Amino acid sequence: MQKKPIIVANWKMQLGVTESMQWCMHNKQELAQLTQQATIVICPSFPMALVVGVEAVASGAFIGAQDCCAFEKGAHTGQVAAHMLAQVGCKYCIVGHSERRLFYRESDEEIAYKAIQVLVNGMIPILCVGETKEQLEKQQTFQVLERQLQVLAQKIGHIKEEFALIIAYEPVWAIGSGQTPTVQEIEKIADWILAFCKTTMPSCLAKVLYGGSVDESVAQSLSQIQQLDGLLVGGASLDFQKFKNLVSLFSKLPL
Ligand code: 13P
Repeated sequence: MQKKPIIVANWKMQLGVTESMQWCMHNKQELAQLTQQATIVICPSFPMALVVGVEAVASGAFIGAQDCCAFEKGAHTGQVAAHMLAQVGCKYCIVGHSERRLFYRESDEEIAYKAIQVLVNGMIPILCVGETKEQLEKQQTFQVLERQLQVLAQKIGHIKEEFALIIAYEPVWAIGSGQTPTVQEIEKIADWILAFCKTTMPSCLAKVLYGGSVDESVAQSLSQIQQLDGLLVGGASLDFQKFKNLVSLFSKLPL
């Protein structure tokens, strides 16, 4: 049986309340159909999680957050704790997005603590990894991925209970650039990530997503990659029809 893909819509800081609500409400029926074929996770900005959540959940979609605090609670002005996200219905949380690594100087250690907060609060972390253009050109991709994953593995690799972890491979050079790696390159990287997780975190039920300039033009070719469990979509998730088409193409459904 074909597995149900996980398609994550990362709205970044693009849609306000009205637009977020319209995205869900104007497309209610189509969204409900889409959730039959794929696990749809919508990641709006923090203030929208609750309102969008009500609409999205009614259509069978899930709500995720784009980030969370590495600490449980306390004097951390401007931060949002993982347990607060869980309380408003988030089931997933992105951690370590390259924009946060780059613009907010997040370290691998901080990101590992965020992933742990997500897990202990009953949500599934979507941990983003990926190399920059410079690192790609220096052929450092696997070194970078290992560095980005190993802190988390060191902290939770010994855990006996099974836990779910989604790793999103998002090469920084592919985000918003219109460029994507080849199918063979993504296959090789997904294999490496799965093998790394199996060795260093034996209780981890790991899934791999691809993200970076995913749109209708590449969704079908990405669907050939057996090792991929889904996609993390930025710009092409803002317009519902574009998003629907790419989900259908990736899930091999008629448009
Ligand atoms: P784009 O799909 O706009 O390239 O963004 C990718 C991304 O950063 C998703 O998290």
